[in-house]
Amino acid sequence: MLFIIFQLCSVYLCGIGAEEFNLFGDAGLAYAIEVSIGHPHQKLHVLVDTGSTTLAIASYPRQDSNKYFHADNSSSINDSGKEVHATYSQGMWVGRLVSDFINFPSLTTIPEVRSDIALITKSHKFFMNGSGWQGLLGLAYLPVGATGENVIVESWLESLDRTLNRPMSFELKLCAAQSATNATHYGSFQILDDFNTINENRNKTFRTPILRKRWYEVGVISIRVMSNVNNSDVTSDKYNIDTDMCQTLNKEKSIVDSGTTNIRLPNIYFRKIVDELRSAAQNSSTLILDEFWYHGEVACWPEPQEWSLPWLAIDLLNYDQDNQYFTLELPPQNYMRVVAARNSSAESGAVSEFCYKLGLEAGSTETVLGYTAMEGFQVLFNRSASWIGWQSSNCGPNARVTGPYNISTSLRSLCQLVNPEPDVAVSIKAAQWVLCVISIIAAGFLIYLLTPCVKMFLTRRLRNSPQISLSQAALVEQESA
Ligand SMILES: *[C@@H]1O[C@H](CO)[C@@H](O)[C@H](O)[C@H]1NC(C)=O
Ligand SMILES: *[C@@H]1O[C@H](CO)[C@@H](O)[C@H](O)[C@H]1NC(C)=O
Ligand SMILES: *[C@@H]1O[C@H](CO)[C@@H](O)[C@H](O)[C@H]1NC(C)=O
Ligand SMILES: *[C@@H]1O[C@H](CO)[C@@H](O)[C@H](O)[C@H]1NC(C)=O
Ligand SMILES: *[C@@H]1O[C@H](CO)[C@@H](O)[C@H](O)[C@H]1NC(C)=O
Ligand SMILES: *[C@@H]1O[C@H](CO)[C@@H](O)[C@H](O)[C@H]1NC(C)=O
Ligand SMILES: *[C@@H]1O[C@H](CO)[C@@H](O)[C@H](O)[C@H]1NC(C)=O
Ligand SMILES: *[C@@H]1O[C@H](CO)[C@@H](O)[C@H](O)[C@H]1NC(C)=O
Ligand SMILES: *[C@@H]1O[C@H](CO)[C@@H](O)[C@H](O)[C@H]1NC(C)=O
Ligand SMILES: *[C@@H]1O[C@H](CO)[C@@H](O)[C@H](O)[C@H]1NC(C)=O
Repeated sequence: MLFIIFQLCSVYLCGIGAEEFNLFGDAGLAYAIEVSIGHPHQKLHVLVDTGSTTLAIASYPRQDSNKYFHADNSSSINDSGKEVHATYSQGMWVGRLVSDFINFPSLTTIPEVRSDIALITKSHKFFMNGSGWQGLLGLAYLPVGATGENVIVESWLESLDRTLNRPMSFELKLCAAQSATNATHYGSFQILDDFNTINENRNKTFRTPILRKRWYEVGVISIRVMSNVNNSDVTSDKYNIDTDMCQTLNKEKSIVDSGTTNIRLPNIYFRKIVDELRSAAQNSSTLILDEFWYHGEVACWPEPQEWSLPWLAIDLLNYDQDNQYFTLELPPQNYMRVVAARNSSAESGAVSEFCYKLGLEAGSTETVLGYTAMEGFQVLFNRSASWIGWQSSNCGPNARVTGPYNISTSLRSLCQLVNPEPDVAVSIKAAQWVLCVISIIAAGFLIYLLTPCVKMFLTRRLRNSPQISLSQAALVEQESA
């Protein structure tokens, strides 16, 4: 009898219960999960990425890491010999399509399934030094998967759906930095059964429709600085939809992307928001240099900071009603990202430093809600029903969701949002075309963010804090400026 119950449980995934964190990452390096590949199991780490589709794994030693998948050692591998490739905005890889067994040790109720894998054999600006991950777990739809000549690479989620013979959803709960003194990020990734899900978080779920099934494309109505944090009702009363803004934000696309660090905005709105934040910061006791606000540089202090800065609001189209939106409210802890936290230790004589980076960046035309916009929320990606559900979570920044708010007209037409396409419209041909034309995937941004600009500079507080400099070069540069 017990055995039967256990069986049922594993089939119906009843074990959502215990709070277990299975995602970890260093500051700025997104969230990675442990995966076992092949037989015997080889354990590696893959970045959890809603901005791409393919499971792609390093299969060769790199300059900075000798951790990779040893294909020769797997007795269960099926090598197609076909070449596949993917291009990102800042990097690319070439690989070989194989299939093998995939198992996530932390997802105890999810069976091991045979899945397509792209074994990366060559790459350019893709892997990062010291990143702690050796590949990507793409969670998006087929059209943004890796391709090759006459090759379709099925995603792990699709293999899972096929094996279980029903659609699966997934949920990301990203919790940001562990504590003020440990910048390691943590969170949880869960697979949810569409037919049997008990959500233990009683906070209200707000749903936004997935407008197109390529990336997770959503309708972003606006992104703005909130004037009064204490009274969230302010959003409903005083806020008028800026038609130009919502049309611009969604003109190319707006996506939810766990593989991107920042909230990426079209230039003019980046500028507008950052101007407001900067002016609010000037009003408080903290002076932060413009390099921090406008050029993605790091600011450091000798002790952890408590920010008295305004909250950010992100308004999303509501799933139920076309004339409604709801609001993600992000405290400064979301967008003032902790990138380093080091308490001095007497032995090593190291200086204490607590460093931050702005979680916003200017993009070209698109809008990307990177994981900065997801921390503090429990985000459910319902793939079959085409919506993304947001609710406040019990970890991370104290972010919240409010609404829904009504307006008098259809937001879809006001903001010229695309109508959701039926599934059949996503043809393979279109998929490949899309990939060739717009191959912008998460990790690309990530690399862009991390590259050479982690250059420290001086920051000053108007009152009481001593100055700190993190590198000789920065100090010299600052003085001569
Ligand atoms: C590969 O297999 C060899 C021999 O079976 C073993 O010694 C080695 O540790 C394996 N390497 C990995 C990475 O599993
Ligand atoms: C290997 O893959 C090919 C084509 O993908 C398939 O025809 C073949 O049956 C597979 N072999 C095994 C052992 O799974
Ligand atoms: C990677 O880091 C190692 C030491 O951590 C360093 O020696 C190496 O030059 C770095 N490689 C690149 C490409 O930055
Ligand atoms: C930070 O937290 C991680 C995860 O719990 C842990 O592995 C690591 O040792 C911690 N680092 C420090 C400096 O305490
Ligand atoms: C996904 O949405 C469908 C339809 O709204 C619902 O039946 C199903 O339970 C949802 N899945 C999850 C995991 O919430
Ligand atoms: C918000 O509330 C806190 C206390 O709850 C208060 O100290 C602060 O001044 C209020 N801020 C505004 C802008 O009303
Ligand atoms: C900054 O302070 C000035 C004067 O106190 C006020 O007029 C202005 O609105 C404040 N700006 C912000 C962004 O709070
Ligand atoms: C840093 O360490 C000192 C003692 O080593 C401790 O008193 C202080 O509270 C720590 N700071 C933080 C922010 O944890
Ligand atoms: C519900 O949201 C609140 C914050 O709004 C949070 O404190 C609480 O932990 C959340 N509950 C769960 C179960 O996540
Ligand atoms: C918003 O619209 C819905 C349905 O159209 C209605 O039930 C609800 O009462 C309205 N809410 C407000 C605050 O007007």
